[in-house]
Amino acid sequence: MLVHVPGVLDAEQLRHCRTMLASAEWEDGRATAGVQSAKVKRNLQLPPASLPARELGSVVLGALEKNPLFISAVLPQRVYPPLFNRYDATMSFGSHVDNAIRAIPGSPNPLRTDVSATLFLSEPDTYDGGELVIEDTYGQHAVKLAAGDLIVYPAGSLHHVRPVTRGERLASFFWVQSLVRDPGQRAMLFDLDMALVQLNKDAKQHPALVMLTGLYHNLLRTWATP
Ligand code: NI
Repeated sequence: MLVHVPGVLDAEQLRHCRTMLASAEWEDGRATAGVQSAKVKRNLQLPPASLPARELGSVVLGALEKNPLFISAVLPQRVYPPLFNRYDATMSFGSHVDNAIRAIPGSPNPLRTDVSATLFLSEPDTYDGGELVIEDTYGQHAVKLAAGDLIVYPAGSLHHVRPVTRGERLASFFWVQSLVRDPGQRAMLFDLDMALVQLNKDAKQHPALVMLTGLYHNLLRTWATP
């Protein structure tokens, strides 16, 4: 399940991000890549412990906490501190699957990557190429979103970033350990929650809403892992 979460960052937050990223020091993206993905990864990244990475990471985390669509789609248990990357012309990231387990700096507990997320920070008309292409059983999906928009997808999916041919593509990316590990169960809970949101608008007084809401929570109770 791919979910597009629009407007995670507003115009002011985007301006702040781009200003800080413009004067930041970047390093080779292979610094955080696994053995397989290092072979196909050609981009730049902010050093994770650098000041801009930590400050902008907290801006992103703060915005995610307040976003009901993100929470419903992902059911976050723990979010990896957001990372930031830049693709200049000719840069790309070939086909790979993200590492299943990632150490979190300063934490004794590694994070299981259930969901991968990319938050677009550059307006799509400022660069050519750079689509994030995600493969699932229905084929390939090319994603290039407005600045401030987020895409979330199962971390087990093969994906790549097409070469940028003009301009620069800035993004934040991170992983989430979900309360519900199984992507199929997570997708069903998301569908049920979206149906409930719709019914609460259109048929607010209907007595079946109580039962359906109860069903949502009882499924979540059954499937959630501590
Ligand atoms: Ni990846």
